[in-house]
Amino acid sequence: MKLHWLKFLSLSSFFFLFSAYLLYSEVNLDEGRDIFRTQCASCHNRNMVDDLTGPALGGVQERWADWPIEDLRYFIRFSQRMIEEGHPKAVQLWDQWRPNIMNNFPNLTDDEIDNILGYIDAVYKGEYGAPAVAVTDRVVVEEEADNTLLFISLLFILALLAVILARIASVLNSIQKAKETGSAPRTKGILDILTSKTAIGILIFAAIVMGGYTTVNNAIDIGRQQGYAPQQPIKFSHAVHSGLHQIDCQYCHDAARRSKNALIPPTSTCMNCHTAIKVGSEYGTAELVKIFASIGFDPNTDQYIEDYEKMPMDQIAAIYKEWIESQYVRANDLMFVDAAGREEVERQWDEVVASLTHEDRDHVAGPIEWVRVHNLPDHVYFNHSQHVAAGNVDCATCHGRVEEMEVLAQYSTLSMGWCINCHRQTEVQGFTDGNEYYLQAYKKYHDALSGGDMQRVTVENIGGLQCQACHY
Ligand code: HEC
Ligand code: HEC
Ligand code: HEC
Ligand code: HEC
Ligand code: HEC
Ligand code: HEC
Repeated sequence: MKLHWLKFLSLSSFFFLFSAYLLYSEVNLDEGRDIFRTQCASCHNRNMVDDLTGPALGGVQERWADWPIEDLRYFIRFSQRMIEEGHPKAVQLWDQWRPNIMNNFPNLTDDEIDNILGYIDAVYKGEYGAPAVAVTDRVVVEEEADNTLLFISLLFILALLAVILARIASVLNSIQKAKETGSAPRTKGILDILTSKTAIGILIFAAIVMGGYTTVNNAIDIGRQQGYAPQQPIKFSHAVHSGLHQIDCQYCHDAARRSKNALIPPTSTCMNCHTAIKVGSEYGTAELVKIFASIGFDPNTDQYIEDYEKMPMDQIAAIYKEWIESQYVRANDLMFVDAAGREEVERQWDEVVASLTHEDRDHVAGPIEWVRVHNLPDHVYFNHSQHVAAGNVDCATCHGRVEEMEVLAQYSTLSMGWCINCHRQTEVQGFTDGNEYYLQAYKKYHDALSGGDMQRVTVENIGGLQCQACHY
């Protein structure tokens, strides 16, 4: 009886510790930063100390310390609902900041919110400093290493606990046996316990659970990438440009034909049209001014500003505010700007600054920092021109109907299976078209085709399933 109870205890403590490990998730500052930049930075200053449309977020957890963390999370998800419900802290914020309203973020998970909060805190305390790309990479690696260490130490504690419990069980067992039979049998030593069926069983069980956990985790990762559609610093719409105005993909992504990367067009490409189109029908000046402010084009005079990178920010602000104001006055048929107009000018300029600057960049001049949507791991080689030019594959086959997307979203999974499946099924155009290069390079297929031994040549046949074709 006692023995079973102890076995149960040791197993359940194992379970407990293990699930504690699974639940334990380290705050991921990089994820926090990405969400903050795409979802929060339009209203909350990236330096965490100055107010913008919304309050500076530095020290926010301390300000909410009188309430459980759930309240702060709830505020971030449904601030207006919480204000209506009369939560004292929320009402106090509203009194201070109305009529500025914060968006709802119903889809943020607890983990994501904690990551944002962690990131806010780290920037505020100066612990998250100007990370170059390489440094970011290193941080990620270190995080993984940290996790492994944690796991190993937990496993060790677990093993120790299991052994101790098993030993107690064994001693109790022998005491009981001694009572029944009157003679004391040998109690089990540590070594016996370590090699016992139960210990090995637990180890195998742990391996299975770990495997399952990793698989599920990866599946979630993949699910999150497909459909990934981050907010961009400028509300650039493919639906407007490629749908409504029928601008060819290659006008902007002309590198797709010629090189490995399709590349995002530089701001100068935007200026081919937007020196003339200076006020949009949807956002007026709000979005297009971001383009001008990033490249230093003065829409009042239609001139590029000299030495723009070195110009102090207040002079720059004056130029663009003048432009926004003049368009506001025009659009509203006024003689002079009114109070609402002045407020609108400030609001728009604040948003321009927030979209173009962040803690590593305090000047609006410079390339627009588009948030990357597609991201194959470093160990995979993918080449656009190989597919677009040689393979004659349409952009839409891999990227979906981009000309209908207001916000660009990742259409395909980008998994290995996705590449492989297409390579198995797709015929190589070069053979169908009678391209000399292919006919020469793959003479045996050519012969087999003309001899009728082969119906078609797929990418698989020309080496498209070989590991080294796609992996460095
Ligand atoms: C459209 C503008 C806007 C966006 C976007 C926005 N906020 Fe806010 N936020 C505000 C305003 C305005 C307030 C002040 C309260 C109010 O008026 O509702 C606020 C208040 C807050 C507060 C309370 C601050 C304090 O001092 O107690 C937190 C926390 C917060 N926001 C977090 C976030 C996070 C996290 C995001 C991104 C996921 C975000 N906000 C996105 C406008 C915004
Ligand atoms: C007027 C210029 C322009 C045209 C035309 C254009 N794009 Fe883009 N494209 C951009 C810009 C700017 C971005 C970065 C912002 C974004 O992701 O929305 C982008 C991003 C993308 C991305 C995502 C890149 C990433 O970060 O992974 C894809 C895919 C893409 N474009 C495909 C297309 C396709 C397909 C077409 C034609 C149907 C097209 N684009 C037409 C300018 C353009
Ligand atoms: C065979 C599938 C496929 C086709 C066809 C394709 N792409 Fe891509 N595209 C990808 C993949 C995969 C990535 C991610 C690459 C990476 O992360 O290295 C990508 C990334 C991009 C990017 C992000 C920047 C870059 O170069 O990594 C842009 C922009 C883009 N594609 C535009 C286009 C346009 C425009 C076309 C058509 C002219 C096109 N793509 C055709 C698969 C494709
Ligand atoms: C070939 C011409 C052309 C190019 C190149 C071009 N655009 Fe546009 N853009 C347009 C047209 C046309 C409109 C629609 C204007 C309107 O609705 O009044 C537009 C609208 C916009 C709008 C919406 C403005 C609003 O308030 O409705 C934004 C934002 C924008 N473009 C950003 C960009 C960016 C960023 C680039 C460079 C990556 C770019 N455009 C390149 C022609 C172009
Ligand atoms: C929609 C179909 C399709 C998808 C999806 C696709 N490919 Fe391809 N791929 C092709 C075609 C077609 C060719 C042949 C091009 C040619 O004619 O040389 C090709 C060729 C290649 C080659 C050259 C193979 C060789 O031996 O010459 C590589 C490498 C490659 N693809 C990598 C990838 C990777 C990596 C992915 C996934 C991220 C991918 N492809 C996804 C259609 C596809
Ligand atoms: C047609 C291109 C292609 C070929 C051929 C290919 N792979 Fe991959 N492989 C990929 C892509 C794309 C990924 C990234 C998948 C992701 O990020 O989910 C990948 C990922 C992987 C991974 C990492 C898994 C992970 O979770 O990131 C391994 C390991 C791998 N491949 C091994 C192989 C081996 C071994 C072969 C040869 C039998 C092979 N690959 C052939 C495209 C290919």
